Amino acid sequence: MGLLTDRVAVVTGAGRGIGRAIVERFVAEGARVVVNDLDAAPAEEARAACEAIRPGAAVTSVGSVTDAAYTDALMARAIDAFGALDVLVCNAGLTRDRVAHRMSDDEWQRVIDVNLTGTFHCVRSAAPHLRDVAKRELEERGEVSRVRKVVTFFSTAAIRGNPGQLNYAAAKMGNVGLARTLAQEWAPFRICVNAVAPGFIETRMTAEKAPGEAMGIPRALREAALDRIPFGRYGRPEDVAGVVLFLSSPLSDYVTGQELNVSGGLQIP
Ligand SMILES: NC(=O)c1ccc[n+]([C@@H]2O[C@H](COP(=O)([O-])OP(=O)(O)OC[C@H]3O[C@@H](n4cnc5c(N)ncnc54)[C@H](O)[C@@H]3O)[C@@H](O)[C@H]2O)c1
Repeated sequence: MGLLTDRVAVVTGAGRGIGRAIVERFVAEGARVVVNDLDAAPAEEARAACEAIRPGAAVTSVGSVTDAAYTDALMARAIDAFGALDVLVCNAGLTRDRVAHRMSDDEWQRVIDVNLTGTFHCVRSAAPHLRDVAKRELEERGEVSRVRKVVTFFSTAAIRGNPGQLNYAAAKMGNVGLARTLAQEWAPFRICVNAVAPGFIETRMTAEKAPGEAMGIPRALREAALDRIPFGRYGRPEDVAGVVLFLSSPLSDYVTGQELNVSGGLQIP
């Protein structure tokens, strides 16, 4: 028996980085997962990695969380493939860094659309399968069959404020307000909603910025970030996956509306 035996999860942005570590960890704990990503090739690689852990435990769904019709289809994929939806992890995200006075409307909007509006779309699309199912169970039997879970993502960079990330900081702190509010709306249906703030985790998003790349962090800033981490190392996707597992499992059935930093003790002034 794993911590997520019999549970079905949708994880967005699961083709790479933290999302991929989450789906692999979930499958190892008994879950069946829908691997969403914008990009088909990494989504398929993540599915294959899950397949190697437990055959038949993962399917892909390729599309953008910015598209509300698509997120309806994404949640329906969980129902079609596995018959239920118990856990929603809104992990998809991206950066388009630029100082405020030079930031374009496109850079602002893209980051808000993916990191914040994408979470809203996923939550609304998941409502019939999480909220409404739990509501019916309460009406019919007086109790829910399981405590369902939503995990959203924000960032220590957003808590602290981070020069060059006006758009990202705004979007990520928006996810905190969203999670606190949804936690209250859905508590009567025994659905836990919590938010995770990774610190500096080594992924494509935080790799050393190559010339012409839209994402990444200049070397000097990467080194400065390491100096602020008391643990003395960058985080790994698995460090975050373990915390998301806790917040998605029965171990946290009485934890809702909370934020948890996964940052090696990173000081936030
Ligand atoms: N890496 C860090 O240090 C760090 C720190 C704080 C917060 N985060 C957050 O953690 C989450 C995961 O980040 P990561 O570091 O693994 O990044 P990553 O770039 O390695 O992976 C993000 C994945 O999301 C996918 N994605 C992007 N836009 C999408 C869309 N519109 N629809 C569906 N999928 C989409 C990408 O294709 C990619 O595979 C993000 O929400 C990010 O903001 C990361």
